[in-house]
Amino acid sequence: MQVLHAVAVMTVKQRPSGKRKADRDWLYCRKSRIPVNFMTDDNTSDKPWGGRFTESTDAFVEAFTASIGFDQRLYRQDIAGSIAHARMLAHSGIISDAEATDIVTGLEGIQDDIERGDFAWSVALEDIHMNIEARLIERIGETGKKLHTGRSRNDQVATDLRLYLRDEIDSLCSALQRLQLALVDLAEREADTIMPGFTHLQVAMPISFGHHMLAWEAMLARDHERLLDVRRRVNVMPLGAAALAGTSFPIDREYTARLLGFDSVATNSLDAVSDRDFVIEFSAAASLIMMHLSRFSEELVLWSSAQFSFIELPDRFCTGSSIMPQKKNPDVPELVRGKSGRVTGHLVSLLMLMKSQPLAYNKDNQEDKEPLFDTIDTLHGSLRVFGDMMPAVGVCHARMEAAALQGFSTATDLADYLVGKGIAFRDAHEVVGRAVRYGIDNDKDLSAMSLQELQTFSNVIDADVFTVLRLAGSMAARDHVGGTAPAQVRRAVSAARTRLQAD
Ligand code: ARG
Repeated sequence: MQVLHAVAVMTVKQRPSGKRKADRDWLYCRKSRIPVNFMTDDNTSDKPWGGRFTESTDAFVEAFTASIGFDQRLYRQDIAGSIAHARMLAHSGIISDAEATDIVTGLEGIQDDIERGDFAWSVALEDIHMNIEARLIERIGETGKKLHTGRSRNDQVATDLRLYLRDEIDSLCSALQRLQLALVDLAEREADTIMPGFTHLQVAMPISFGHHMLAWEAMLARDHERLLDVRRRVNVMPLGAAALAGTSFPIDREYTARLLGFDSVATNSLDAVSDRDFVIEFSAAASLIMMHLSRFSEELVLWSSAQFSFIELPDRFCTGSSIMPQKKNPDVPELVRGKSGRVTGHLVSLLMLMKSQPLAYNKDNQEDKEPLFDTIDTLHGSLRVFGDMMPAVGVCHARMEAAALQGFSTATDLADYLVGKGIAFRDAHEVVGRAVRYGIDNDKDLSAMSLQELQTFSNVIDADVFTVLRLAGSMAARDHVGGTAPAQVRRAVSAARTRLQAD
């Protein structure tokens, strides 16, 4: 315990001094870059589990197996879980009320220390759970040693992770919603704006730019639903499963679950400590979000190019080139497009991590955290930057309309018009095909042809044809649920607003 004491009182700024300098070097842990004390004294009793060991852990193994470099991010959930556990122990008569009060006060003090940056993380203490418990014992003495009654780090870490992910899902849902609203605002503003709609990236039909924005919003709305659905399965409490089989103490799991806001308790102790399917499920939902953002990104990159010039990305979301003075690069969408790859990579890592693991807990599961945390960080960053950028995107109406006039985007309207005059669709298709061929040879859009020219393809064509050949007429004609008519776009905007308010 003496060594433990020395670790605990050290602040992050102090460097340990002593004989085995090499073993006492500082380990800058992966990710966090927070210095962690690298202790390797020959004292087996420095570990909470040291009793049955006859030699101390190999210095490199200690660093290799530790998770404190990244799981310190779970400190709030770890403390909340411990406070609820201590309260339950007192409620069930396993410890006294006075002991629970001491433990709770001690843990709250530790949270303050951590938030002030006054906590020395120790690699010798492996992970967030043992770091906090050791500090508690140091602060409040013997009573601190009772906290772990009826509990294991196996159910503790599963609980911490679920609490953490639940909070993160809530804040990701808000970030998603903010972006959804930005798209709905844009759709409302640009409901009448004409752009070419594409299939195979070839001009297909004129569509409303607002309609296009609502297509993106619809994808995000499903992403939002998926996150809420995952949350239901995340919010189940493993605590009480202990190491794997439950505990011989008369615990009250429902009581702890209520304190922590869980919807229910896990009904099988082996499953509760071992499966990380909830992390994988979240990661799959996250990959779909990033896949969607990568599609938006691709369009933004294309549309902001000189060749398209459909939109103008604000300067503050772009960067220049160190050699080409004229350049303005769409780095933000490019980067988000690139980041979608790493999130899907994490999904595959997590699936591989879980695959073939026997029941119950295995140390493999410690590897779930870094991919999960990076997924969450990437999602937060990407949603935030899209939410900031989309309301500021400039829309170049004239360019989009001019582009919609290329590629005979109203050809289908002409065919539909002929059907209206009694011609079968297949025949109408053939007639319009010939008109388009003529247009290509003479470099003329259908709407630019004279009535006489059009009548050479079919004698049923009348002067009223020009209404359907105009871009606005074509767009307005698709006036049913899900269609691109501006009236439908406005209806969809108000439906989306109602839905978003209810979320
Ligand atoms: N750091 C471990 C993890 O992240 C905590 C659980 C360790 N349990 C154990 N029996 N070694 O999974």
